[in-house]
Amino acid sequence: MANDASTVFDVVILGGGSGGYAAALRAAQLGLSVALVEKGELGGTCLHRGCIPTKALLHAAEIADETKEAAEFGVLATFQGIDINGVHKYKDDVIAGLYKGLQGLVASRKVTFIQGEGKLSSQTSVDVNGQRIEGRHIVLATGSVPRSIPGLEIDGNRVISSDHALKLDRIPKSAVILGGGVIGVEFASVWKSFGVEVTIVEALPHLVPLEDENSSKLLERAFRKRGIKFELKARFSGVEYTETGVRVSTENGKQIDADLLLVAIGRGPVSAGLGYEENGVAMDRGYVLVDEYMRTNVPTISAVGDLAPTLQLAHVGFAEGILVAERLAGLKPMPIDYDGVPRVTYSNPEVASVGISEAKAVELYGKEKVVTLKYNLAGNGKSKILKTAGEIKLVQVKDGAVVGVHMVGARMGEQVGEAQLIYNWEALPAEVAQLIHAHPTQSEALGEAHLALAGKPLHAHD
Ligand code: NAI
Repeated sequence: MANDASTVFDVVILGGGSGGYAAALRAAQLGLSVALVEKGELGGTCLHRGCIPTKALLHAAEIADETKEAAEFGVLATFQGIDINGVHKYKDDVIAGLYKGLQGLVASRKVTFIQGEGKLSSQTSVDVNGQRIEGRHIVLATGSVPRSIPGLEIDGNRVISSDHALKLDRIPKSAVILGGGVIGVEFASVWKSFGVEVTIVEALPHLVPLEDENSSKLLERAFRKRGIKFELKARFSGVEYTETGVRVSTENGKQIDADLLLVAIGRGPVSAGLGYEENGVAMDRGYVLVDEYMRTNVPTISAVGDLAPTLQLAHVGFAEGILVAERLAGLKPMPIDYDGVPRVTYSNPEVASVGISEAKAVELYGKEKVVTLKYNLAGNGKSKILKTAGEIKLVQVKDGAVVGVHMVGARMGEQVGEAQLIYNWEALPAEVAQLIHAHPTQSEALGEAHLALAGKPLHAHD
């Protein structure tokens, strides 16, 4: 480790996940000296226990579904089952390749990487492996872990978190998933494709309750068709072990038996025992409080990623890390507009959105000022070829910009790039309608929706 008692780094970063390593890479690029402290593996939750492995599982699930449905496309194939070890090997190979690439990247940017469990020891230092690492500035980026409910013990076998689900060496016959948020819905989708009987238990009235209600309803319709069961407005009340599995009870009197219970009720910050409070950092329920520049109340300390009470998404972590690095290097970065962050749930079908929901727009602008338009993917050639159903819903401020794009359907996650430009550039429907979309692509559906909103629908009924 290139550090002796006299070394003071420009930035010391605690945690090498999406937020921490993005801060490290950008800071180093801008000429700052950087130490990055990580107790586990560089890449953190996203690379090792989150985005990447789950999306690999979802892709294996998609192949399983396509094999089962091959005859519908005139292709002869027989689905023989899932080789779970083969799935893990594929997933782990993807992770290993990215992990190697990331390690190389960090080394090539001359970031001093320190492997070990660090702790904030003062407002300008982190202790790790019995050594004090001094920094003119400290970035806290220790991330999050799966949360549970008081009294609900995750045993890692019959009652599991997403960490365990990603490494499960068997395919259960049945599973209850507690929580119909992003993690719950993505695992429900994978497991159903792998042949598991799935029931989701969700306290709120809809699956993916943070999305526009129309998206939730479309996802629920698609899940119903796929045979994924869900109990809505059903708050968890308890779980007991049965001879072979678990019995899950809800407050409204339902009991569901299954081989296992996956707890997916959110992720909580990793901050306990790390010296944050002792060194004067203001916290709220374990989260480190930050302003729009990710500054804590301590002038020498910033926080980024899942540890801060902003959207828990890897790409938000990247953006927050970059913002802090640029601020420390004397640039003038803009605060993040969190409504402008694209959100994708990679289930089958996918749910993708950017901007605000219709309900939020009505709250902000008043009902008479909000215009919406729904474009059904049935009118989109490429979606028809893929045999996917779904909709694109636009939310517009009357005579003004598009403030929300909400999409459900296969591969809609890939359309969110254009949708985010539309939202973030405050585009008017007529401006988007001018842009020519390639035919036949699913991106045309976005173009068609804007044509319709601009009053000149092409492949849509007036
Ligand atoms: P979440 O907050 O998205 O969903 C948890 C769900 O559990 C909520 O709908 C909530 O109403 C429900 N719930 C809570 N307590 C309950 C109870 N006692 N009984 C019944 N239902 C209850 O959290 P999730 O899905 O665990 O994800 C954690 C974080 O990870 C999220 O912030 C998510 O955005 C992020 N993530 C993002 C992904 C993506 O972008 N594709 C993929 C996976 C996770």
